[in-house]
Amino acid sequence: MHNKLATKQTPANPSVIRALVPVRELHAGHREAILHHFLQLNNDDRHLRFGTQTPDEVIERYVAGLDFNQDTIFGIFDAQLNIVGLAHLAYLPAFKSKTRAAEFGVSVLPDGRGQGLGTALLGRAAVHSRNTRVETLFVHCLASNKTMMHLAQKAGMSVEYSYGDADAYLKLSPANPGTIVEEVANEQWAYFDYALKQNLKRSNGAWCWMLGRPALTS
Ligand SMILES: CC(C)(COP(=O)(O)OP(=O)(O)OC[C@H]1O[C@@H](n2cnc3c(N)ncnc32)[C@H](O)[C@@H]1OP(=O)(O)O)[C@@H](O)C(=O)NCCC(=O)NCCS
Repeated sequence: MHNKLATKQTPANPSVIRALVPVRELHAGHREAILHHFLQLNNDDRHLRFGTQTPDEVIERYVAGLDFNQDTIFGIFDAQLNIVGLAHLAYLPAFKSKTRAAEFGVSVLPDGRGQGLGTALLGRAAVHSRNTRVETLFVHCLASNKTMMHLAQKAGMSVEYSYGDADAYLKLSPANPGTIVEEVANEQWAYFDYALKQNLKRSNGAWCWMLGRPALTS
């Protein structure tokens, strides 16, 4: 399940992590892989991610309702093309007097944690937000979610607490040529990484078939 390209040897510098971890923008064809990712989260993680108890049926409805034209979904794939890290950037409705804003939600499977994937997803979502004229990025989570609070504060977000919930927000500066290039470069890298893993998976499958062994699934 580990993403071999994002191991503990990854440098600690956030912009280097952002550049190295291949974060891919997902489309409707990934719906099944997205569902599979969420269904692998245990009850505690689902509670942290969605803020409430979330049975399988609710997750199935949530995934079926994802609108890839309206929102942006990012994923990080492991060697078997399972989604190990997933982020949902939901654009909030803009009111006349208010600035454009988006809400960020993230989950990383237990085996992939502590390797910078959550940081990379947040960084990628922040850059994408800047490039799509979003001025404020929000994260809503439980105040007890120490890991998410740490991630948010590390990214420079201000945090407000109320009644066991926490709202973190980040005022984003406008896009510049650097943010555009950073996003394009990461997207290209993510496509390359995906194609490489797809080819490896296919050739492994072919070898397993020739040797009469069951194909690797995880
Ligand atoms: C929150 C989550 C996405 C983080 O993913 P991740 O890939 O482990 O994140 P990273 O590896 O980039 O960073 C984790 C950071 O939290 C720190 N951390 C881990 N446990 C911690 C704790 N109990 N208290 C404080 N910090 C903690 C790590 O040391 C690391 O910090 P560092 O990079 O400064 O060393 C993941 O834990 C998860 O999926 N949790 C369940 C769902 C959830 O809580 N989603 C957030 C609400 S939307």
